[in-house]
Amino acid sequence: METQRLIVDNNVDSEKSYSQAVDLLNAGELVAFPTETVYGLGAIATNNTAVKKIYAAKGRPSDNPLIVHIGTFDELENYVADISDKARKCMDAFWPGPLTMIFKVKPNVLAESVTAGLDTVGIRMPNHPVALKLLQKLGKPVAAPSANRSGKPSPTEGIHVEQDLTGKIPLILDGGATGVGVESTVIDLTLETPVILRPGAITKEMFEKVIGPVKQPTHIEQKQGAPRAPGMKYKHYAPNAPVLLIEKDKNQVASAIQQLQQQGHKVALLAPQDFEQLTPEWFFTLGETQEDMAANLFHALRACDLTTADVVLATVTTTQGVGAAIMNRLEKSAGGKWYKLK
Ligand code: TXA
Ligand code: MG
Repeated sequence: METQRLIVDNNVDSEKSYSQAVDLLNAGELVAFPTETVYGLGAIATNNTAVKKIYAAKGRPSDNPLIVHIGTFDELENYVADISDKARKCMDAFWPGPLTMIFKVKPNVLAESVTAGLDTVGIRMPNHPVALKLLQKLGKPVAAPSANRSGKPSPTEGIHVEQDLTGKIPLILDGGATGVGVESTVIDLTLETPVILRPGAITKEMFEKVIGPVKQPTHIEQKQGAPRAPGMKYKHYAPNAPVLLIEKDKNQVASAIQQLQQQGHKVALLAPQDFEQLTPEWFFTLGETQEDMAANLFHALRACDLTTADVVLATVTTTQGVGAAIMNRLEKSAGGKWYKLK
């Protein structure tokens, strides 16, 4: 299959590209598109044959349910059994935006493989002009996981999708780099006290201002069986070379680089901009602020695969605010491993 990547932004006449995307989706094909978090790989969420193609293209395990994207508020009640007060408050406060809410699903409306056998469904309204325009022109719900091969970092640029899925999908709508850079927050609102299943740019602190207490299980609590998103158990976000975490301390990082190089390793360093003066073989910036770090992280992890680095050092951050989302992704990419200074 030939894969087309079409640039869609305000400066080019993109009407034709949107029509092409809508026609392909209606014909049961897959289309990748940008959201404010990461690129999604979409299929019409009521077409089971189309949705199954997503799992095949990504190499995704079939027990990992997909998020359904909607373009208008009114559609929500078509797919979910009950919209609680807390859910309404979150919609008002955070939609369109980087938030996926888990609801009890209305039976026999969405394709079976969207929910992977669960009686719940994750729904979100993305805040990106291309995603919203596509959804509104289509007028149907779109199931879309991140548009990467399963296990790889999520794509934050059209070209990342191309690297992973060329030959497997017909069309990528390329709207440039996404803004947030980490996937949406997933919150389960079907529980008495809502639980954050996957941290993202809508933080615990932000929810609590709107709906009162919410739980955010730690990594260990999740392992001990707290409610979770099925997808969080899989290996994720890993470049080819092993990733090792390290404190954001220039002396420690400098020593680690030196020790690794003495052992014959070629090192890629992911760190804040002012670590640039150190001497790894490759340096990829995580920027200055936590927002920069979220936006740069997946690009930097992917960039390691374009080098011959055989070890990746990545500096950590706090778990305050969006830091919780960053550390969740970093810990997964490293499989929880830290560099131990000799
Ligand atoms: O930002 C995002 O959410 C991106 C963009 C494209 O919208 N999408 C995304 O989808 O990250 P995906 O499939 O890569 O991640 C979806 C996560 C998985 O961890 C999945 O297990 C969880 O959401 N999930 C989906 N439906 C669920 C459900 N009914 N109950 C619990 N977890 C669910
Ligand atoms: Mg994903």
